Amino acid sequence: MTTTIPLLFSPLSIRGTTVRNRIAISPMAMYCAENGFPTSFHGHHYAKFAIGGAGIVFVEQASVTRVGRITNGCLGIWSDEHADALKPLTSFIKSQGAVPALQIAHGGRKSSTQRAWEGNGPLKPENIQNGDESWTPVGPSDLAFAQGWRKPHALTIPEIHAHTAYFAKAAVRAVEAGFEIVEIHMAHGYLLQSFLSPLANKRSDEYGGSLENRMRFPLAVATAVRAAIPEDMPLFVRISAVDWIEGGWEIEDSVEFSHELKRIGVDVVDCSSGGNLVAGATNANLKRSPGYQAEFARRIKAETGIRTQAVGLIRTAGLANELLESEHADLIAIGRQALFNPSWPHHAAEELGMNSAFQQWPKQYAWWLKKWKSGLAASGEALNTW
Ligand SMILES: Cc1cc2nc3c(=O)[nH]c(=O)nc-3n(C[C@H](O)[C@H](O)[C@H](O)COP(=O)(O)O)c2cc1C
Repeated sequence: MTTTIPLLFSPLSIRGTTVRNRIAISPMAMYCAENGFPTSFHGHHYAKFAIGGAGIVFVEQASVTRVGRITNGCLGIWSDEHADALKPLTSFIKSQGAVPALQIAHGGRKSSTQRAWEGNGPLKPENIQNGDESWTPVGPSDLAFAQGWRKPHALTIPEIHAHTAYFAKAAVRAVEAGFEIVEIHMAHGYLLQSFLSPLANKRSDEYGGSLENRMRFPLAVATAVRAAIPEDMPLFVRISAVDWIEGGWEIEDSVEFSHELKRIGVDVVDCSSGGNLVAGATNANLKRSPGYQAEFARRIKAETGIRTQAVGLIRTAGLANELLESEHADLIAIGRQALFNPSWPHHAAEELGMNSAFQQWPKQYAWWLKKWKSGLAASGEALNTW
């Protein structure tokens, strides 16, 4: 066992919140909410990650309005009742020493669509027959996301102001629900990213055209949310660092945008990419290899001084720790690998030479596992994760 703590397992303090390690479970929509309310699946699902040793457990994108839901199965935070329903989740996550975080979102022109496993596309008659509602989505312009998708209603200026307030109210509810970090979803082609990207935003007023104009609404949202949550609470923003499409949002835009976010008091830029594939475009530029988006996090951190979170195909403890050591990021978000293995943080600790005696596992497991491990070793059996 090593005596120096690997960076992945050293605590990090941001404003008034300290996370026990640098591992965040990435926000992942489960598409099984009912009218925006969590079901018992959510309770069990998020509990696994808190028990599994993550520093931060992100609860999936929760919509700030009813029509902002991407699918009929998306979580909501548009009423106080929704906030109340999330309290048991936050309370359990905290009881296990993890920090509960909520991603607040609006699906924009990608709303009113099928759940992932139903096809991820526009709703079909069979979805409606099965009880799904369909509605007109909203966006920066009346440009559909792709061929065959619903044409959005282009938000008017008073509606943009109203949406800024919806995000701020949602953030207040997140605090009320017991979350200790709020993240604003400004990635993946959803409402706020669609204002940023010239591929989706074709407005000719002060919310479209120049970079300054396209940033105006997302920055107003960040400002309103920052003012709505306690001074000592960290605020994250997830961005799509690039569109991966020629003529789209580029890394230089993300650097510029991050400078502004930092000025407003955003603490961490969570660096994802893509999601704004429009009709006729291809994602041939998208090269997916381990840590393929981490370079964006490195550049934003280096050029603006803001903290970053790296995400995307980070599956090994070695890579996660190396990205921190090489100053690509301050936090590492794990998505599908955590679905596969919710105790990934505990296994990562072991892999990095810590936790050989299961010290960081919940006491309900640790005593047994320690004895079990020595028993297995005595009979020559190796421990593995499956
Ligand atoms: C089931 C599932 C649901 C997702 N839902 C969200 C979401 O609600 N918000 C978000 O920003 N990203 C979402 N993502 C993207 C992940 O947060 C993450 O960025 C992506 O999976 C890449 O990380 P990974 O390679 O570690 O999985 C989702 C991904 C998956 C697999």
